[in-house]
Amino acid sequence: MSAKIIDGKEFAARVRADVAKHVAKLKADHDITPGLAVVLVGEDPASQVYVRSKGKTTSEVGMNSYEHRLDVDTAEKDLLALIDKLNNDPAVHGILVQLPLPDHLNSDLVINSIDPAKDVDGFHISNVGLLGTGQKSMVPCTPLGCLMMLRDHHGSLSGLNAVVVGRSNIVGKPMASLLLKDSCTVTIAHSRTKDLPDVVRGADIVVGAVGRAEMIPGDWIKPGATVIDVGINRIDAPKKGEGKTRLVGDCHFESCAEIAGAITPVPGGVGPMTIACLLANTLTACCRANGLEEPQGLTA
Ligand code: GUN
Repeated sequence: MSAKIIDGKEFAARVRADVAKHVAKLKADHDITPGLAVVLVGEDPASQVYVRSKGKTTSEVGMNSYEHRLDVDTAEKDLLALIDKLNNDPAVHGILVQLPLPDHLNSDLVINSIDPAKDVDGFHISNVGLLGTGQKSMVPCTPLGCLMMLRDHHGSLSGLNAVVVGRSNIVGKPMASLLLKDSCTVTIAHSRTKDLPDVVRGADIVVGAVGRAEMIPGDWIKPGATVIDVGINRIDAPKKGEGKTRLVGDCHFESCAEIAGAITPVPGGVGPMTIACLLANTLTACCRANGLEEPQGLTA
């Protein structure tokens, strides 16, 4: 293995420490405490784990955490009424509605009812439009985390060829917008892209965000390229360690690490950065709401 391993756990801890430092200063200088409201509808086990983890980490950096757990058959109008209340609550600077929502709720309608200034997920159509046109916005957490790691590794990204494999609204598309804003030459590829191996071979930066276990092998990677693996796929085969299943990314780690210059592992790469960036976004939203300078290095 020749690639440098980009340690997302360690990076995320640094981001959280930075956020905590800014939160302490906001309190000391302005008597302001950033607040994040997380709304969970229903009892999806994975969502419950995420929401618990978000609440715990929010408190650990000194922010106020407000959790709203609603019944699985909550009426849409009741959810919208809660969001309206949070939109108008000055103690709440960030609002996150955990997805997926139960089928009877219209996710687009719900997300677009959040005040864009408090939309710390960056999913509101206004934020999508602002980011797509290179304007100041709230930026989705996972691509923001990838961008932070890329900037840290490369310094300037200007002129680099970036290939994003995956076209989701949550990762692929905003990732491409962010890389374009940092002056990369960007290609969005996906599972149906013609000659995908050759497209990926042209990349100085490969972002795997397609949701297919180990789809990108090492022989698609240009020697020395940086590989950012967003995928989290649970597969059978206890080859690595114990147990019946294990987590792998969208890139085949061992073969990619032979060729790449740097690579994020799964787990322990992009994953831990998502919650760290949620906290960074909440801090940014709080600073903007109070007309204060935004923290450097924690935004796009
Ligand atoms: N469910 C899984 N990931 C996310 C996320 O980043 N934001 C929200 N709101 N829901 C999710």
